[in-house]
Amino acid sequence: MDLIQDLRSQHVEIGHALIELKEILELKKQHVKIKKSLKGLNDGLDNSLNNFDIIASLSELKSTLVSHLEVEDKLLYPSFSKSKDKKLNNMGKKFSDKMLGISKVALSFFDKYSKMTNEMLREDKSFKKDLIGFINVVNKRVNLEETVLFVEYNKHLSGK
Ligand SMILES: [Fe+2]
Repeated sequence: MDLIQDLRSQHVEIGHALIELKEILELKKQHVKIKKSLKGLNDGLDNSLNNFDIIASLSELKSTLVSHLEVEDKLLYPSFSKSKDKKLNNMGKKFSDKMLGISKVALSFFDKYSKMTNEMLREDKSFKKDLIGFINVVNKRVNLEETVLFVEYNKHLSGK
C-alpha cells in the first residue's frame, strides 16, 4: 500500500471533518437548546415540583422546535433537492418526508396537552408516557441529522 497516498486521503477526511459551517453550527446549537428544554420538562415532572410551570415549558419548547424546523426547511432541504447528485436528492427528500411525519406527531402532542392545566398534567400518566416517547423520537432524529444529514451538507453542499 502506498503509505503517502494513504496519509493524504486521511488528511482529506480530516479536512472534511473540520469544515463545520456556521449554519450547521447554529442548527446544532438549536438542537442543544431543544434537548435541554426536553430534559428540563422531564426533570420538572420527575421532581414533582409544584411551582414548575409545565404549560410555559411546553410552549417554549414548541416555539423553539417550530423555528428550528423553519430554518431547516429554508436552509437544508432546498440545498439537497437542488444538488446534481441523485444520492443527495434522495437523502434530503427522505429526511424531509420523515420530519413531516414527526412534526405532525409533535403538533398533536402540543395540541393535546396545551389545553390542560399544570395540575392536570402533573397527575396525567399518559402525558408522562407521551413525553418520554416524544423525547426519544426527537433525540433519535437529532442524532441522525448530526451524524448523517449535517455531515453530508458540510461535505458537499456548502455555499451552494
Ligand atoms: Fe434539526
